[in-house]
Amino acid sequence: MSKPFGEETRGTTNPNRLRRVDRWIAWWCAHALTSAPDPLVIDLGYGATPVTAIELRDRLAAVRPDVRVVGLEISPERVADAQPFADPPRLEFLRGGFELAGLRPVVVRALNVLRQYDESAVPDAWRTMTSALAPGGWLIEGTCDELGRVCTWGALRAGEQTPVSLTLSAKLSTLESPAVFAERLPKALIHHNVPGEPVHTLLSNLDAAWRYAAPYNAFGPRQRWLATIRSAGMTTLDGPQRWRLGEVTFRWPS
Ligand SMILES: C[S@@+](CC[C@H](N)C(=O)[O-])C[C@H]1O[C@@H](n2cnc3c(N)ncnc32)[C@H](O)[C@@H]1O
Repeated sequence: MSKPFGEETRGTTNPNRLRRVDRWIAWWCAHALTSAPDPLVIDLGYGATPVTAIELRDRLAAVRPDVRVVGLEISPERVADAQPFADPPRLEFLRGGFELAGLRPVVVRALNVLRQYDESAVPDAWRTMTSALAPGGWLIEGTCDELGRVCTWGALRAGEQTPVSLTLSAKLSTLESPAVFAERLPKALIHHNVPGEPVHTLLSNLDAAWRYAAPYNAFGPRQRWLATIRSAGMTTLDGPQRWRLGEVTFRWPS
């Protein structure tokens, strides 16, 4: 096999860190998962322990009981360390990079992987992963804090090179303001959060709406978040059912 495409980076991970993105994948990718002839999902770059790959398998099994998750790591040591947790064929750990080890998954989750690369590496990584997806598949690529309380991610369709959507998701009881998403934006956006750029406009509108919605705090942070999204006046790709979970999904700001 040719050398995996990418570079080894820090392996920081935590149990339950990716619960928000997993819950969203179970919703957004439900059709892709249920209609896939082979329900193969890749967790790319699972890190120092395979805990989030195990959780991904368990969560997606609620949507597609025969889902198979393959955790891919570029670090051979991390692949070896994960073997005791393998449960083939439903859960396997292999060495691989952005080329996806020659597999053809219906969903790829790559969280906190590109964050440690230069921004210039993103287009090639996206292109390589989306061209390896099964038809109708999705690449979910993003970033979160260490405990998974502030998360953002983009979704790209198979064969495409620009994300369709940007999702922001947070634990509302600890959210100080939507401005905190700025530190956790996907690599492709994080350096563009400057006046005049669409992502800056998006976060500024949301932040202004959050301040305007301050009186709703009396009814709890969820009500404030709902009022924020409504009053921000921006088109979303989801609705109140998702907003209630502390999420919102916009068209990708490009
Ligand atoms: C910070 S950890 C993220 C762990 C987990 N995804 C999470 O969010 O908690 C990043 C991991 O991605 C791996 N990695 C980096 N580039 C990779 C690539 N191109 N292919 C596979 N793994 C990669 C690193 O070796 C590291 O273990």
